[in-house]
Amino acid sequence: MSQHNQSLGEFIIGNQDSFEYSTGELSKLLHAIRRAAKVVNHKVNKAGLSDILGAAGEENIQGEEQQKLDVYANDIFIDTLINREILCGIASEENDDYITIKGQKNDHKNKYVVLIDPLDGSSNIDVNVSVGTIFSIYRRVSEIGTPVTEEDFLQPGNKQVAAGYVVYGTSTMLVYTTGHGVNGFTLNPAIGTYYLSHPNMKFPEKGNIYSVNEGNYVHFPQGVKDYIKYCQAEEEDRPYTSRYIGSLVSDIHRNILKGGIYIYPQSSKYKTGKLRLLYECNPMAFIAEQAGGKASDGFQRIMDINPKELHQRVPFFCGNKYMVEKAEEFMKNAK
Ligand code: AHG
Ligand code: MN
Ligand code: MN
Repeated sequence: MSQHNQSLGEFIIGNQDSFEYSTGELSKLLHAIRRAAKVVNHKVNKAGLSDILGAAGEENIQGEEQQKLDVYANDIFIDTLINREILCGIASEENDDYITIKGQKNDHKNKYVVLIDPLDGSSNIDVNVSVGTIFSIYRRVSEIGTPVTEEDFLQPGNKQVAAGYVVYGTSTMLVYTTGHGVNGFTLNPAIGTYYLSHPNMKFPEKGNIYSVNEGNYVHFPQGVKDYIKYCQAEEEDRPYTSRYIGSLVSDIHRNILKGGIYIYPQSSKYKTGKLRLLYECNPMAFIAEQAGGKASDGFQRIMDINPKELHQRVPFFCGNKYMVEKAEEFMKNAK
């Protein structure tokens, strides 16, 4: 069988041994995520037919209005993940606090925690533009047999054992890494199976896309303003082209495939940036690095930041290594 015919299920099992300390739990966890993503995909595809568009009428902990699909995706992922003997805790962008999972024997013996952005790109749901899911997996640091603690979730990104995203786009793809490169699987909706369609994903050597919400230009720090002008200058292979979907997952996915940089900087509106370190930036950073790219807050590696709180936000610069380094140079030299 050619590698491209390999299903995600076969791939996970085939690669289980390459994972240090593997006892099969991580595989089970990935199977569960794959399953939840199928359910969410089904709902996303029917948006507009069933009563799933629009606001849910509540705000999340971050004061953002929750969409119905935010709530639905959150419930599906949590319900699917909670009912298995794998996790000791889950933290979600949509929940105020983390959830403790005792396990069926109430013995707190499970060893992984998941952090999740169940529905990324909420503003695109109602207009039929692609959205995503982002997940990040860590081994707990607290003692097995005791309830999970906040420090299990507040680990730097460099401790992730796996991370991935699902993009509900023209086709649905699940892309993930366990630290041995990045692989992308496309869902065949007719049979409900994901197949390996993008083995060993890598940023192309050259990138020519910059992705930033330029409407916020006046609020950006000088370094970002200078970098944007650099992207627009008529020199060498520039001006670069501008692409911004407004769904982090879709913007990064495109930039990995085509080459480019994504920036969500700090601004006078969002003092420390908008994106969440634990649910969005760390998992995307892990994938970007595994695809040969780089992720930074403008000054330091995203995955080396020691998180202080669950819903912490950070500025995010992610993409081809040389493009992120150029942006960092502008940040450093900005007056
Ligand atoms: P979420 O839908 O999970 O809240 O995330 C939205 C994020 C991210 O996906 C996107 O890149 C960014 O917010 C868009 O923000 P702006 O509309 O401010 O550009
Ligand atoms: Mn998001
Ligand atoms: Mn979200």
